[in-house]
Amino acid sequence: MKVLITGAAGLFGHGLVQVFGAKHEVFALTHADADTAEAAATRGMFNRLRPEIVIHTAAIPDLDICEADPAKAFLVNVEGTRNVMEAAREIGAAVAHISSDAVFDGEKHAPYVETDPVNPQTVYGRTKVEGEGIVGHLPNHWIFRVPVLFGPGKANFVSKGLDKLRGGEEYVVASDQVACAAFTLDMARVMMEVIEARSYGLYHIANAGACSRLELVLRAAEVAALDAAHIVAKPTDEMKRRAKRLKYSVMELRALKQAGFSVPRPWENALEEYVGMWKTEK
Ligand SMILES: NC(=O)c1ccc[n+]([C@@H]2O[C@H](COP(=O)([O-])OP(=O)(O)OC[C@H]3O[C@@H](n4cnc5c(N)ncnc54)[C@H](OP(=O)(O)O)[C@@H]3O)[C@@H](O)[C@H]2O)c1
Repeated sequence: MKVLITGAAGLFGHGLVQVFGAKHEVFALTHADADTAEAAATRGMFNRLRPEIVIHTAAIPDLDICEADPAKAFLVNVEGTRNVMEAAREIGAAVAHISSDAVFDGEKHAPYVETDPVNPQTVYGRTKVEGEGIVGHLPNHWIFRVPVLFGPGKANFVSKGLDKLRGGEEYVVASDQVACAAFTLDMARVMMEVIEARSYGLYHIANAGACSRLELVLRAAEVAALDAAHIVAKPTDEMKRRAKRLKYSVMELRALKQAGFSVPRPWENALEEYVGMWKTEK
């Protein structure tokens, strides 16, 4: 397959390029190659490369940046997605769009399934819901909702914590935000299975299990044999972030299971592999 990946220099893009590139012809499109917020540039690039599949990861994923500048967040995350969808439609490519657990309101007390109503609490979450709606207009599309990501190639929630602990600095982490967690390489592998099977639709994807942000960092520190004394646990309300954080956004991978795909391994095992990579990345 000819697969174009937007946001290829990003955290998820890095993992997707690695996994898909081992098996398929990949066009790794970075921000410098084309600004997805510009329709003509996006269309021109797609027409020249003519991929069969487009995996759209280019976005502003930072909740606080989106909250501070909604116009920019909507331009990149919504209009950018519209441009990608239109350009893909013109050349008959199927689109896999990356969404987030931030589409939910965090008020549920049991794992969210794909059919649960969305009710985003942040600007970022609203852009993700709109992006899903836009991609949903294409007959051949996938929407993959992912939780917090960790993986090689770019700083992420886990690596930032480990870097700080190794430098003897404090890492302040929310003690009351429970969600799934996802290793980018495992997510890329499961996406490749679903995409190769042409099994279109909306999927929650994550490593099996759930944890708080605090548990995630504590486990990473333990695996890395770093002193966890500098991990400072705080309730979300005391962290004074610009954008609201969800206290509960665990996702059930119901669609994946119902379609007969296997669920990625538990987050603890994936984290162990990733921490090994983090050690050698430095
Ligand atoms: N990270 C997470 O924990 C997480 C959780 C849930 C969902 N997601 C979603 O997963 C996807 C990938 O996130 P990520 O963590 O890989 O983000 P990332 O590391 O910030 O990567 C996003 C990439 O998109 C590029 N980009 C931004 N604006 C662009 C534009 N106008 N045109 C072209 N490229 C542009 C960025 O390039 P520059 O840096 O050069 O601007 C960056 O390389 C996003 O849709 C995000 O919302 C992420």
